[in-house]
Amino acid sequence: MKIELNKNKVFFNNGSSLEEIHPFWLRERVDGEEFLDKGTQQRLFDPTSLNVEIGIKKAQINNQYLELDFNDGVNSKLDISKITKEFSKKDTVIKSIEKVQWDSGLKSIKNFEYKEGLFETKDMHDLLVSFYKYGFVIIKNVPTEDNHIVKFANSVGSVRRTNFGEYFDVKSKPNPNDLAYTSLHLAPHTDNPYRNPVPCIQILHCIINEVSGGFSTLVDGYTVSENLKKENPEFYEILTRVKVRFKFIDKEIVLEDWSELIKLDEEKNFKQVRFSPRLDYVPILEKYELDLYYKARKKLSDMYNSEKFRIEFKLMPGDLLMMDNHRLLHGRTSFDANEGNRFLQGCYIDFDSTEGKLRHLKRKFEI
Ligand SMILES: [Fe+2]
Repeated sequence: MKIELNKNKVFFNNGSSLEEIHPFWLRERVDGEEFLDKGTQQRLFDPTSLNVEIGIKKAQINNQYLELDFNDGVNSKLDISKITKEFSKKDTVIKSIEKVQWDSGLKSIKNFEYKEGLFETKDMHDLLVSFYKYGFVIIKNVPTEDNHIVKFANSVGSVRRTNFGEYFDVKSKPNPNDLAYTSLHLAPHTDNPYRNPVPCIQILHCIINEVSGGFSTLVDGYTVSENLKKENPEFYEILTRVKVRFKFIDKEIVLEDWSELIKLDEEKNFKQVRFSPRLDYVPILEKYELDLYYKARKKLSDMYNSEKFRIEFKLMPGDLLMMDNHRLLHGRTSFDANEGNRFLQGCYIDFDSTEGKLRHLKRKFEI
C-alpha cells in the first residue's frame, strides 16, 4: 500500500488498483496545530463549513510526508503512515482479535492474577485479548472486601447500572424472586435479553463458597451458532431472521426488546445470542413457519444444554469471572445450601469499557 502523485492528484496504490483520494478527505485531515488539538486529536475547525469543491494546488512527497497546498490557502504536511492506516476501513483493534470456538474439550486457559495497579499493566492488555478470544476470563485473588467488584468494574471502565442496582448479590435466600437466588440448577442463559441495549459483559465475583456443588457453567453461543449453521442451515436461517419479544415486568418498570435468538451483523457474521426461554415470545407467523421455528429453537436449546458444549468449574473466594453476555451463556449446577454459604456478587459493564481500555493499553505499550 502506498501513496502516489500524478498532476497534483493523490492516489492510493494497494498493489492491484490505483484510486484517487478525494481532496476533501485529505483536507479534513490537516493536522497543524491551528487545525487539530494535539491532546484530544479533535478538530479545531468544522469541516461541514468548508466548500466541498476544495482542490489541491500543489502536492509533493517528502520522505514520509505528503505536503499539500489546498486552494483555500491551507498548507499541510500529512504523515503517510497515518493515512495508509485508515485504508483498512475496519476497526483494527477489536475485530482483529480472532474469536476461538470452544466446547467441553477446552483445555484450561490462562487465568490472571490480581495485583495492585493491574489495570495499567501489560497483563491487563493480555487479559483483555484473552477475553475477546474466548468470551471470558478469570482473575484470581481479587479482594473480597467492601464490594470490590464495583472498584474492579470502574477500573476497567464504568459499571452499567440497571434497575436492579449498581451490583447484585447472588446467594440463596428465603422467598426468592428469581431462581438465581435459590440453590437450584440454573440452565444456560444470557442475562437481561429484554434490555436495550442488553448489558454487554457480566462480572461475577466469588466472595464465599463453602458448598461442594454449585459449579459455574459456560457455553460458547458463537460455537453453537456456527455448528448449527453447518448442521441445520434451515434452523439457523429462521433463528437468525425472526425477532422475538423479550419482556420483564416489575412494579415500577416494563422492559421490552425484540431480537433474533442469533443476531448477525451487516456482513452476516455472528454478532449476539440471547437465550432465556422463560422470557421469549415468538410473534404469530404462518403455521408452517412456526412449525420450523419451534423445531429450531428446541434444537438450539438441546445444543446449549448438551454436555458437548459446556464447561464447568468451581469459583473459589477471590475468583472473578468476566464474561461476554452477548456471546456466552452461563448457568450453575445445584448445590446443597445446608453445607454452608455460597455468595457471589455480580455487576455489568459495557463493551466501551473493555474496548476503551484495550485501545488505551495498546497505545501505551505500543502494541
Ligand atoms: Fe444469569
